[in-house]
Amino acid sequence: MTETDPAPTRPIWLADDKKRVQIIDQRMLPHNLVIVDLTTVDQVIEAIGEMMVRGAPLIGVTGAFGVFIAVQNALESGDFEAQVRKECLRIKEARPTAVNLAWGVDRVCAAVFSKSNPGDCLAAALAEASAIAEEEVDNCRRIGEHGVSLIEAIRREKGGKTVNVLTHCNAGWLACVEHGTATAPIYKAFEKGIDIHVWVDETRPLNQGARLTAWELGQRGVAHTVITDNAGGHLMQHGMVDIVIVGTDRSTYTGDVANKIGTYLKALAARDNNIPFYVALPSSTFDWEMTDGLAQIPIEERNPDEVRCVEGLCPDGRVEKVRIVPEKSRAANYAFDVTPARLVTGFITERGVCGANRDQVLALFPEKR
Ligand code: MRU
Repeated sequence: MTETDPAPTRPIWLADDKKRVQIIDQRMLPHNLVIVDLTTVDQVIEAIGEMMVRGAPLIGVTGAFGVFIAVQNALESGDFEAQVRKECLRIKEARPTAVNLAWGVDRVCAAVFSKSNPGDCLAAALAEASAIAEEEVDNCRRIGEHGVSLIEAIRREKGGKTVNVLTHCNAGWLACVEHGTATAPIYKAFEKGIDIHVWVDETRPLNQGARLTAWELGQRGVAHTVITDNAGGHLMQHGMVDIVIVGTDRSTYTGDVANKIGTYLKALAARDNNIPFYVALPSSTFDWEMTDGLAQIPIEERNPDEVRCVEGLCPDGRVEKVRIVPEKSRAANYAFDVTPARLVTGFITERGVCGANRDQVLALFPEKR
């Protein structure tokens, strides 16, 4: 990036040469805006695995563009189809929890092999990956339109006073392509002039609320306050939260929700305090096979060093990582948890708001019956 380049408004895009895929390296935010080129499948896998890109919809879009890269690099190979299929499998294994990854890869892979000539395969890969990105933008826009009605209802009940939303982790445009999922209704409400304030957490293990959601909201001018992960219950007990809206990495169509570790505790506190707990997601984040999220959704366990260490800005402007636990202590790093359907007030999808249960989800998506 040079000083004259405009700040990107998406976390992923195709470079001007129509070959390289470019991403924001989200590990560097909010202190540095670093753009990275992806030209090989290994780089795509590293970008997903190391969380340069993250968030279920974005992981799906990155996987989709990963197939485009795999096709480009296999054009000269002796066994084009076997090579591309092998690379698709490798991309799908980059991270386990977000269901969008396999969905995006499989969709582009199917488009590729609907053609017989490798040149057509490349065009098909690019067209399908781009279509997925644009569909996710549109889905998130619609999530905002449906979700804002929940915020408007609260504002009416409160006689126009500030609506306080709590969100966990980052389910903003950085996690998607534009708008975000959990943030889409928040941005829509802000655009409509509603007085809104957001409590922002996930302050461990990766500080994605503190680093990413706070950065996004700050860029748009949305009022927000960063809190520790443990503060949510206290705020709810004292009437300081009107609604919780979170994203999800995989939700069963029966209503169970996998999201960033700590989401379950927010849902429990919300239930104890009669606060609505909504989950915003595009249909690409539904798992249409699984019926028991707790038993079936794979929960990623990441490098314990993410728990043992924290990273931050030093007074001299350097970003440094420091260890905060005793050298010999073990650490465990579960990245997600599952909130059972009974604690979820509803889903906010691109087709509307519904209860977190099989009947209401399938009523919105009858083609999945
Ligand atoms: O580990 P991540 O950053 O890929 O997971 C993202 C989340 O868990 C977010 O909470 C988000 O809500 C889901 S993606 C919109």
